[in-house]
Amino acid sequence: MCGIIAYVGDRKCREIIINGLKRLEYRGYDSAGIAVLMKKNSKKNEKQAASENYSINIAKQAGKIAELEKLINDTHIDGCVGIGHTRWATHGAPTQINAHPHMDCKSKIAVVHNGIIENYAELKDELISKGHKFISETDTEVIPHMLEEFNNGDLLIAMQKLLKRIKGSGAIVALNSDTPEEIVAARISSPLVIGIGKDGNFLASDMPAVLEHTRNFMIVNDFETIRIKKGSIEIFDIDGKKITREPFKVNWSITSAEKSGYEDFMLKEIFEQPFGVKETMRGRLSEGILDFKEIDLTSEQIINLEKIHIIACGTSSHAALLGKQLIEKWARIPVEIEVSSEYRYKDPIVEKNCLFIAITQSGETIDTLAAIREAKSKGARIVAITNVVGSTVARESDAVIYTHAGPEIGVCATKTFTAQIIVMYLIAVYLASKTGRLKEENIQEILGELEIIPNKIQSILNNAEQIKKVADQLYKYRTFLFLGRLFGLPIALEGALKLKEISYIHAEGYAAGEMKHGPIALTDTNTTVVGIVPKDSVYEKMLSNIEEVKSRNATIFSVATEGDTQISKYSNYVFSVPKTIEELYGILTIIPLQLLSYYIAKNLGRNVDQPRNLAKSVTVE
Ligand code: AGP
Repeated sequence: MCGIIAYVGDRKCREIIINGLKRLEYRGYDSAGIAVLMKKNSKKNEKQAASENYSINIAKQAGKIAELEKLINDTHIDGCVGIGHTRWATHGAPTQINAHPHMDCKSKIAVVHNGIIENYAELKDELISKGHKFISETDTEVIPHMLEEFNNGDLLIAMQKLLKRIKGSGAIVALNSDTPEEIVAARISSPLVIGIGKDGNFLASDMPAVLEHTRNFMIVNDFETIRIKKGSIEIFDIDGKKITREPFKVNWSITSAEKSGYEDFMLKEIFEQPFGVKETMRGRLSEGILDFKEIDLTSEQIINLEKIHIIACGTSSHAALLGKQLIEKWARIPVEIEVSSEYRYKDPIVEKNCLFIAITQSGETIDTLAAIREAKSKGARIVAITNVVGSTVARESDAVIYTHAGPEIGVCATKTFTAQIIVMYLIAVYLASKTGRLKEENIQEILGELEIIPNKIQSILNNAEQIKKVADQLYKYRTFLFLGRLFGLPIALEGALKLKEISYIHAEGYAAGEMKHGPIALTDTNTTVVGIVPKDSVYEKMLSNIEEVKSRNATIFSVATEGDTQISKYSNYVFSVPKTIEELYGILTIIPLQLLSYYIAKNLGRNVDQPRNLAKSVTVE
């Protein structure tokens, strides 16, 4: 939540910062701001020390980055050292005054911050008693005032003192007009990367923000402080001890962070799924041979596993549910799904022979991070499944399985979900093969189907126009129920989440058999029921459930299997996916549901990439 970017170097930074903020806008988009160091326009300054010649110029605005851009277009604000911020409000309304950057009393220090200062009220009282003046309602504003208190000429040392006083989370980046050649930063829990450029260096919440300038990065760890200059990068611990760190290179291309002709990132990302799925299998599955070095457990350890816990939130928890079904069916190992935000409060049990899998596309979700820390403190071994190389969850886990979906910019998870599902299929088969609980011929059948699944996803995408036509009819409905059974249940839950988050229509996902226990009371002419009805072992049961809601006047949209001649009798609209084995229908049936949500939301004029009240990664509790 919130996005930060900073640049120090030879180039003018206004455009670098605005473009970077646009790429970070998915992290928060209720207000934005920029601060740039600029030379003062006065002759008498020529004889003064260079430091006295600079002032901080700030522009901030409520609304999206485009509003900020409009504001600064007619100004002279530009320079070679600057910071920017796009906000997702936690303390104080999304107004211009509350937008970052925030400054100290003398307007010499400017700060952007992503996170929450939990003890800000106490710190603010202390600072007010010392004469500091506050103008915003934010928790962040205590930071520049504290830096002002602690600054004895070296802002980095002031930052180290600050870290010892604040409680909460944050990536903090600061400018000081007295030291105009540097930017100082710190991190507690919220993501921050250093981008290493040819003509300057960057700080950003996420790599795509600066991907057009560099592919060379360094990660910042918790309680580290940073000083970047045009030609140098220094990392220190909280006590000022220097740390050496090797940079790494990412192979993400800049086009992966652009819309490339698509109207929205979400649509582009939906259409990238055959590629993301193929890339995620690459190197792990080829011609019927499955190799999963990352899991790093012996066959004996796998056979002795008493339980697997899967920790996740939101869409990732739907991948977890499918994973549970697959692992239990194929490898016969009991699996428990843990909702990250609940986990650490329940005094959890960590069995002696268990494995924890954390699923998080961003690798930065604060609840998932806290849950793995809790499990680790009780002796658990953690395998992370994430899309972001070097993310916090990746670094804090014992092993990492990367999905290779490419950067996902739309707030709504699409291609990272199908990449996560692919990993769940592969893990389940791998565990089953190591335990010997699934016959070799079954394993070969599943692997063979998996290898051709990208083509089947592509064939669904080729028929996207059919879904658009259905959406053109259904977008007027105000209640949607998504029903599925067995492997269709996680897809029903995910379909409902997609629709509600981008269209703001009330949608619920249910196990179809639960309808009679309450939800069927909702059904009337204003209700659309989306049935996930592939030709699987629960097909007949699903038909009965669909029949029950149809006879209560609901409109039915069924996602079925090619060649199904019965389903149209039960449905107002049908979309067919190619045939596959029953466990693999999930990865096919979710594609039309993503498209349905997309086209419904577009019909309603919603901003699908940046839905209201949401942010891409939830880095505050
Ligand atoms: C998905 O569309 C949502 N934006 C959200 O539920 C998301 O899946 C959740 O916040 C978990 O994020 P993570 O995978 O990055 O941990």
